[in-house]
Amino acid sequence: MDCPWRPRRNRSSRILRDLAAETVPDRKKLIMPHFVMEGSGLRQEIASMPGIERVCVDNLLRDAESDLRLGISAVLLFGIPSQKDPLGSGAYAENGIVQRAVRALKRELPDILVITDLCLCEYTDHGHCGVVRDGAVLNDPTLELLQKTALSQARAGSDMIAPSDMMDGRVGAMRNALDEGGFDCLPIMAYSVKYSSAFYGPFRDAAGSAPQFGDRKTYQMDCRNSREAEREALLDADEGADILMVKPALSYLDIIARVRAVTDLPLCAYNVSGEYSMVKAMAKLGYGDERNLAVEILTSIFRAGADMVISYHTRDVYRHGWF
Ligand code: PBG
Repeated sequence: MDCPWRPRRNRSSRILRDLAAETVPDRKKLIMPHFVMEGSGLRQEIASMPGIERVCVDNLLRDAESDLRLGISAVLLFGIPSQKDPLGSGAYAENGIVQRAVRALKRELPDILVITDLCLCEYTDHGHCGVVRDGAVLNDPTLELLQKTALSQARAGSDMIAPSDMMDGRVGAMRNALDEGGFDCLPIMAYSVKYSSAFYGPFRDAAGSAPQFGDRKTYQMDCRNSREAEREALLDADEGADILMVKPALSYLDIIARVRAVTDLPLCAYNVSGEYSMVKAMAKLGYGDERNLAVEILTSIFRAGADMVISYHTRDVYRHGWF
């Protein structure tokens, strides 16, 4: 006799398959990213990310409010400053774009959990994630700027700081700065395992943060390696990270599973821009069904062991009731 949960063309086997399913994706575990820019009344499409826009603070409030009505209650903010400089000063300006966006969101929509991405690359004119001297990114001087940024995001009201650079010792440095600044309860979600990836292409287009020289290979991981993923994750856990993250997700399902196995901290996976755009492009060309593609990808990320997923598909999932 066939196993009852093998696909059969009757209703009871469908019910049994649902009962037996190991992984059930839950939309409450999705986080919606937003790109925030200066100005008012502005909204710019991002050519490489259909359906995602850069918005100014007033439109962010509008979008977040309509998303909240759909049920989306966790957002991740990326700032796009109008001015960039070598030290990325817009990242830690008291009135920087992310700081203003957080204040507005927490004032108008206090029920939303606001996570702030923390990296200098969107704010530096050279596009690297830290202080650059003689063509090299310097670790320790960068840590001081990251501490300043963490504090200014905390003061603005961020609910969770998400450092996405890969400097050594950054989680510990930020934890210390936050504790000393009176923010000892503010959690840190660390982009612990971050690969150097071609799947960030559309994001760099969205944020205008492609490195102007060189690449990020000296501080992002090599896709040929997985042992160091474990090490990076455990280091961040030791330094006080509250949630660990693996990024990207789709080509790194084995890494998600591996990190899941070595820590009991909650684990987030970032379903990055290229993974989103790939699905949109396939759907547009008629090469695949958007819903089926996105649901399969997100389910696989949960199956691999992620507790939560940052995804540009979040709004589609809620709006169209994909799950
Ligand atoms: C760095 C950062 C990047 C992404 C999130 N944070 C870009 C990078 O590392 O170059 C990529 C996310 C995506 O592709 O959706 N601030």
